[in-house]
Amino acid sequence: MNRWGSGLQEDRADSAVRAHCLRVATWSSELAGAIGLSESERRLVEQAAISHHLPEILVDDEAHARLLAEMRLEAAGEQPLVPQPLVPQPMVPQPMVPQPMVPQPMVPQPMVPNDVRVVLETLWGRRPISDPAMGKIVTVLEISDGFDQYFEFQPLFDDAGASDECASSRVEAGLVEAMMSHLRTTSHADVIQMMERLPAFPGAARKVVRQVMNPDAGPRELQELAAALRGNFASPQSHHIWNHSLDVAQAAQMLAQHCSMRVDASQAFLAGLIHDIGRLAFATLPAAFVERFHRLTDGGCPPVEVETCLAGRCHGEVGSETLARWEFPADIVEAVRWHHHPERSPLALTALLYLAEFMTDSQEDLPSYIRLNTACRQAGISMAALTELRHQDSDGLDSLRFVV
Ligand SMILES: [Fe+2]
Ligand SMILES: [Fe+2]
Ligand SMILES: [Fe+2]
Repeated sequence: MNRWGSGLQEDRADSAVRAHCLRVATWSSELAGAIGLSESERRLVEQAAISHHLPEILVDDEAHARLLAEMRLEAAGEQPLVPQPLVPQPMVPQPMVPQPMVPQPMVPQPMVPNDVRVVLETLWGRRPISDPAMGKIVTVLEISDGFDQYFEFQPLFDDAGASDECASSRVEAGLVEAMMSHLRTTSHADVIQMMERLPAFPGAARKVVRQVMNPDAGPRELQELAAALRGNFASPQSHHIWNHSLDVAQAAQMLAQHCSMRVDASQAFLAGLIHDIGRLAFATLPAAFVERFHRLTDGGCPPVEVETCLAGRCHGEVGSETLARWEFPADIVEAVRWHHHPERSPLALTALLYLAEFMTDSQEDLPSYIRLNTACRQAGISMAALTELRHQDSDGLDSLRFVV
């Protein structure tokens, strides 16, 4: 048990399971719609997804009734711990009182509706698949569960030295393919084409980037760089991305000044400023992508998962291709590419971007203690120092923010 106590750990575990169930319900609902299940079937699969981590004993009415009965028996048999003195009680004649109705044993209410229970029991293999409709419902649930679990376990098997223990995650890779084949709205080529349509990196900004990469760059050069890139985020739907980028730039700069690995603070600032540039392309894709993206993210699915599902690449990968074309330094291109997968890049700068996303609570990806730990190690900063930095206010740059 750590200093937080086991209660808090259990709460966290519970809320992680609840968040997973909600995401599976959101994925299930979208997949059910995509393959043409009826509205009632879609609702059924959503409800089953919400309950799919309930212990089986709570779903099975008979077992549930037995459990309650045993609990009542135990409670009735409890004795006080302090021995009571034996005091002779005088016999007092009791008045005749009409006897109350004998209470009937309480019939436990089912924990989950019957149709949801049938789906869950079929999913768990306790019932055969009754008909093709049930087969589809259970398959939708299975694919959605496997898809979300794939991303939850990704930090484990992403490692170059992944062991055979991750074999189950490889099985889930098949479910990932199934999900993507049904929900994909956009090809990688479409996303790259969209990036091509972004305003060309202005010549003035190229000059400032060169200045910033100079080890003698100071606050004035950083201000100029920010101002020069702002135009790429001019559309109203990109304003919040720009404001977030300013926060990440400042966090990355601060981390560079406190971590033990040598990272140039100006380079960290620049990398933070353009780390999410790939999100600009996703924001301008056709409605088929944007509508599905918002339905899924509004339902709790993290943007990185959703982008990967709908377009085959996340914004880090897409953004790095653009930066490579704009001739950004190779370290920045790599750090942006893997800023949500720090385990895939040995650079401290990649780790700093991951930690800066964490410090600004960006919620673009599933939280991962493994990745957080990896990034802290790669950057050379302790978790305690990171927590302290997280609570420090940063200042300046307010004049560059958009009002949203
Ligand atoms: Fe699950
Ligand atoms: Fe971000
Ligand atoms: Fe990001």
